[in-house]
Amino acid sequence: MKYTKLKKSNIEISAIGLGTNAVGGHNLFENLNEQDGKDFVREALNLGVTFIDTADIYGLGRSEELVGEVLKEFKRDDFVIATKGAQNFTNLNDVKADNRPEYLREAVDKSLQRLQLDYVDLYYLHFPDNVTPFAESIGELVRLKEEGKIRSIGISNVSIEQLKEANAHGDISVLQSPYNMLDRSAEKELLPYAVENNISFIPYGPLAFGLLGGGFTKESKLDAGDWRQSIPLFQEEQFIQTIDKVDKLKEFAVSKETTLPNLALTWLLAQEGVDAVIPGGKRKERIRENVQASEIRLSQEELSVINDILNK
Ligand SMILES: NC(=O)c1ccc[n+]([C@@H]2O[C@H](COP(=O)([O-])OP(=O)(O)OC[C@H]3O[C@@H](n4cnc5c(N)ncnc54)[C@H](OP(=O)(O)O)[C@@H]3O)[C@@H](O)[C@H]2O)c1
Repeated sequence: MKYTKLKKSNIEISAIGLGTNAVGGHNLFENLNEQDGKDFVREALNLGVTFIDTADIYGLGRSEELVGEVLKEFKRDDFVIATKGAQNFTNLNDVKADNRPEYLREAVDKSLQRLQLDYVDLYYLHFPDNVTPFAESIGELVRLKEEGKIRSIGISNVSIEQLKEANAHGDISVLQSPYNMLDRSAEKELLPYAVENNISFIPYGPLAFGLLGGGFTKESKLDAGDWRQSIPLFQEEQFIQTIDKVDKLKEFAVSKETTLPNLALTWLLAQEGVDAVIPGGKRKERIRENVQASEIRLSQEELSVINDILNK
């Protein structure tokens, strides 16, 4: 495993991290097996993955609880836990973004309880609520950092204007945004800003939410309750075109004696500013395969062949 640092906060993390929205994320996926989810987290930690990503909204607290149960089996210094908050789910019929300082403070405390920890290493403002000024929401996260409840501050799902405002005083250590071979929109503004401002960029959906896992065909259909139905890449025409591209990438991966998901993760790690990837999954076999990506290197020539496939 390769290890690196969250730049500004100097926290050491594994380059291959773990996404856990399918660990107890019953509000996002149907028929999740919680034991499989815990085995997935435990396997990752045993394989040297130290960077675990969760959020309070995944399973409305359930993901944090399950992750916390597994973390208890390990020493506190052996993992870096990132969680997210800012979606108020006290009223289950009306879950909405909430960046008010008092809400964030309460959300951090609840996350700590579920995770059974005294502090989290990285706390993300998960979604902007488009009402609360960032000076107030990020200001409260700065206070929580000073109090030792969180070690660093991240932000997710923001536009470049929002990111600039949130980072007005340089408090943002990590930006989490969608970015993968099939969705490179972050390259326009967010990624360059992160590089210029010493912010670690952690892409979410590194395997294009499963499309770069290699198992999808033009005939594949998502389950009725699967949140990915809302993602444009999975919708009708775009889906068919995407599968053509995915098939070419798969051929390239085979020629390099690797797999498509490993190629996709290695490609992301080769992009300037991307410090780690957090592939998700439902069972331990996934992370067993994904950790191998940290051993692969792509030459400039190979990166340009991939670029040609992606730009067609
Ligand atoms: N900040 C945000 O708003 C936000 C939004 C989305 C996600 N996230 C975070 O980012 C993490 C990663 O994103 P994601 O999980 O949505 O998408 P992802 O990592 O791009 O893709 C996960 C999908 O890839 C499949 N997969 C994983 N490894 C594979 C392998 N080796 N071979 C074949 N298929 C494989 C999984 O299959 P199975 O499910 O069948 O195992 C799952 O369907 C999440 O878990 C979450 O922690 C954050």
